[in-house]
Amino acid sequence: MKESAILQIGDQRIELPVIHGSEGGKSIDISGLLAKTGLTSYDPALANTAICKSAITYIDGDKGILRYRGIAVEEFTAQPTPNFVEVAWLLIFGHLPTFSELDHFRDQLTTHELLHEDVRDVYQHIPADAPPMAILSAALNHLACVHKNYLNVDDPESFLEVTASIISQVRTIAAFSFRRSKGLPHMYPDPRLRYCANFLHMMFSSPYQQYEIRPEVEDALNLLFILHADHEQNCSTSTVRTVGSAKANLFSSCAAGVSALWGPLHGGANVKVVEMLERIYEGGMTPQQCINNAKDKDNPFRLFGFGHRVYRNFDPRAKVLREACDRVLPNIDRQDPLLDIARELESLALNDDYFVERNLYPNVDFYSGILLRAIGIPTNMFTVCFAIGRLPGWIAQWKEQNEDPGSRIIRPRQVYVGNTQTGYVPITNREV
Ligand code: SDX
Repeated sequence: MKESAILQIGDQRIELPVIHGSEGGKSIDISGLLAKTGLTSYDPALANTAICKSAITYIDGDKGILRYRGIAVEEFTAQPTPNFVEVAWLLIFGHLPTFSELDHFRDQLTTHELLHEDVRDVYQHIPADAPPMAILSAALNHLACVHKNYLNVDDPESFLEVTASIISQVRTIAAFSFRRSKGLPHMYPDPRLRYCANFLHMMFSSPYQQYEIRPEVEDALNLLFILHADHEQNCSTSTVRTVGSAKANLFSSCAAGVSALWGPLHGGANVKVVEMLERIYEGGMTPQQCINNAKDKDNPFRLFGFGHRVYRNFDPRAKVLREACDRVLPNIDRQDPLLDIARELESLALNDDYFVERNLYPNVDFYSGILLRAIGIPTNMFTVCFAIGRLPGWIAQWKEQNEDPGSRIIRPRQVYVGNTQTGYVPITNREV
């Protein structure tokens, strides 16, 4: 049934079509608003605006639902051995891979796992304490320098190769930046190892001793990457879409996504959560003081890992991560007092009117850092791990937009509130 919205502006009455999503969501199509009325809409931060139609990820913020291509995220994390590579294929190509597709994708990830030696050499000129997200963004752009033939990927095989290069080499880039920061030799990827095991090997092996890859740890890392794999039009994904809408290549589009993700309000929150928990652990503040600071409008402090633009209920990923912490830490003989502090903070917040009235619940970043710590990942690498997980989602969204014949360069408008027309004043006549 055709549905429309009526907009009355002065004596002008226009009808705007209402479009329906496959899960019942509805949007008013204002794509003809400027042409019909001469007016633009005003929606700072795009909180009320759908920037595209997408078939990749569905979120129901009220019910706390997250599905990848229609499959609930919990179905992937509940598998006996969660498989991030399988989820990456599903997000990018739209269906669960067959045995042969999965094997071919794995082969491509192995074939393209080595970082070009020219990119590797750049690490020697980067300060050892450089922020890993700065290195990641720079290195992804550097891949465009050494893979010039991948700047325009029009055929499926080239697209698969550049996709495999980025998804595979992002691990190598991340591990190399960690090893550089510790003054350790780079550990090259081992073609015999699967995706997450290889990342752990590159992070923690040494030339004379192979890191012992425990299945519980490998499964935990697959689960973490799966939970971060895509999340519809979040800040970094819409950044990737914006850059890609100009027909920029996949390397630079993903590098732009890394830059957006770095922000502490977005992917950088997982670092801020652990810093917040550590401050409480070290006696810098009590959990209640933390809650009070977060509620104090005169205090810029936020309860990191809490709140979300879309979820008005529990972020399903936070639930899975909290359960994973409870399961994995004992299995790998890890105790972490920060987990108890996190649980106490969560309980205080969920029973505090300020958070309840604003529907503020734990988000993906609240527990992810505790699991990463248990695996041995240092705090400054947390957001890089978020990026490793999110890359298949960025690539899937970039591909979906690139394949949409109706897609146009993203170019929002503004409400101009600056000077009305004025004249040039020679410097000799200007007020001092
Ligand atoms: C991610 O979008 C995605 O999908 C992102 C992500 C993904 O997978 O890509 O899910 C990953 O980025 C998760 C979010 C990680 N960020 C944090 O944990 C930082 C802390 N959270 C907030 O800064 C905030 O909740 C945001 C940024 C997540 C959402 O911001 P919004 O939607 O702009 O909400 P808001 O700032 O308008 O808050 C509404 C109210 C305000 O109070 P009032 O003006 O109504 O009095 O809630 C308050 C805010 O002050 N509030 C918080 C708070 N979050 C919101 N108060 C204290 N602590 C917080 N964490």
